[in-house]
Amino acid sequence: MSDRRQRALLPSLRLDELLDELQVRLQAVVATRDRVNALFEAIVSVGTTLDIEVVLRSIVEAAVTLVDAKYGAMGVIGEDGGLAEFIPVGLTEDQIRAIHHWPEGRGLLGALITDPRPVRIADLARHELSSGFPEGHPPMRSFLGAPIRIRDEVYGNLYLTEKRDGSHFDEEDEAVLVALAGAAGVAIENARLYSEARRQQRWLTASAEVFSSLLSGVPLGQALALITSKSLELTGADLVVLALPTADRSRLQIEHAAGDGAADALGLVLPAENSVSGRVLSSGTRLDLADFGSDQRADAVARQHMNLGPAVVVPLGGPGNVRGVLTAGRRPGSAPLAPAAVGMLDAFAAQAAIALELAEHRAQAERLAVFEDRDRIARDLHDLVIQRLYATGMSLQGSIPLITLPEAADRVTRSVDALDETIREIRTAIFGLQSRPDGGAESLRARVLGIADEMTGLLGFAPSLQLDGNLDGGVPEDAAEQMLGALREALSNAARHAGASQVDVRVRAATDLVLTVRDNGSGIKNTTRRSGLSNLEQRASKLGGSLTVERAEAGGTELVWRVPLAGRD
Ligand SMILES: Nc1ncnc2c1ncn2[C@@H]1O[C@H](COP(=O)(O)OP(=O)(O)OP(=O)(O)O)[C@@H](O)[C@H]1O
Ligand SMILES: [Mg+2]
Repeated sequence: MSDRRQRALLPSLRLDELLDELQVRLQAVVATRDRVNALFEAIVSVGTTLDIEVVLRSIVEAAVTLVDAKYGAMGVIGEDGGLAEFIPVGLTEDQIRAIHHWPEGRGLLGALITDPRPVRIADLARHELSSGFPEGHPPMRSFLGAPIRIRDEVYGNLYLTEKRDGSHFDEEDEAVLVALAGAAGVAIENARLYSEARRQQRWLTASAEVFSSLLSGVPLGQALALITSKSLELTGADLVVLALPTADRSRLQIEHAAGDGAADALGLVLPAENSVSGRVLSSGTRLDLADFGSDQRADAVARQHMNLGPAVVVPLGGPGNVRGVLTAGRRPGSAPLAPAAVGMLDAFAAQAAIALELAEHRAQAERLAVFEDRDRIARDLHDLVIQRLYATGMSLQGSIPLITLPEAADRVTRSVDALDETIREIRTAIFGLQSRPDGGAESLRARVLGIADEMTGLLGFAPSLQLDGNLDGGVPEDAAEQMLGALREALSNAARHAGASQVDVRVRAATDLVLTVRDNGSGIKNTTRRSGLSNLEQRASKLGGSLTVERAEAGGTELVWRVPLAGRD
């Protein structure tokens, strides 16, 4: 109650005036009580729901009503420092649509965050810090703003404009807004703590799952697939791919992918030179890309096949011992992955490195066991079998002069010769057992890479490669050989006839072995002179397959050479 009113009461003795005055005061008391009640209600609602958006909106609505303002808004800063949420109240749908962009936190609203104190302004247009309104914004004069903060952390700001009765905001309004901003702070902090706790819990569960699968000795492919899918699930990425280097480390192949466009990325072969994966493979340190799609460090084919904006590329293993690369990214135009998510990717990458190392040791141990077995068999054959055969031969030979029947002597001599022949055969077998299988036939994957290298000179550029399925082990030698012939012919045609600047090769082994070679050149015309192509057709049909050569939809030529694999061994 103000002193002025108190003094005004005393000299007046008229009853009706006194009653009027009392009525006014009573109304004021009731209004204040209603306001306090409403304030309580708004604050209590914070504790009743976990949906942070609903809570924050109800706080802005309460502020607008309690302080009697026309407009209100709340801006919440995200973990990355940008505006994570903006909640306007009082604007119509049409008005919202007309506004070109939300406040970016410069000027006055920025000041609420950098210098977190309540601000009251009678006329925005005349204020020094005001940076003006965005296009399409309705005019606003009076302003009342408060920072949303808990202890030292500022989470955003809550502000009102246009006091309804045309006057400006007063001290009491400010007190109400500050109380509501405090409630919003608690709500936001709670929500963040809750989601952080949940994230931690999910991370612990996922990481335990990966470790137990590693310890139980699941196949490497399965462990890496699990790591890839968990990375996607827990980090908020849209696409995660895991690439492993070829034996000579000149290229990387994407062997696992999860998320949007995973099928498009799977199997891609990237050069180690001129690609971010290659860089990370050789440096062993993580790379953060603001926009994968436009980053010149990334390989052009990778950019084309993977629709990514912000991305991180993480090495599997440390410098000098990198066994592969994990890339996680989000759609173009999205916010980058949160720092906590990047930390998780580092941890997943470390687990993948362990999986690879374990698999390598296991394979080595198995190879060693095989070698040891072969050595033992070879030794036994040499020391026992050959010696015994030799001794038998000697004693038979010694007995020939004693045989009187010429036919019998002949037969024994032939047996001795047969024994010598057998000994020679066994020696060859021993030789075979002792030579290591590593030096054997080159893998189909390596042979495809070899042909791509070989044809790069003729083409003037390297063709892009995508290899899918079980190429090594799933393709019989005759099919493999015919396919390689087809690849060579298709690349030579693209080089000589197409005038192309890009050729994409895809080899896929599933129920069929399918080779697709697409160029962006002139496109094949109806031609009668087909020698190379008819040769390919014959080779395919001999194996029960087919060849099609067509103008590609996007221009250029697409050749598809296909033979069935199912039902063969
Ligand atoms: N990728 C392509 N782009 C444009 N035209 C092509 C392409 N591939 C083939 N052609 C056209 O089809 C014709 C037939 O190709 P084919 O491989 O059968 O014979 P060739 O390449 O001319 O001769 P050869 O293969 O015996 O050296 C080519 O002469 C060329 O005109
Ligand atoms: Mg040809």
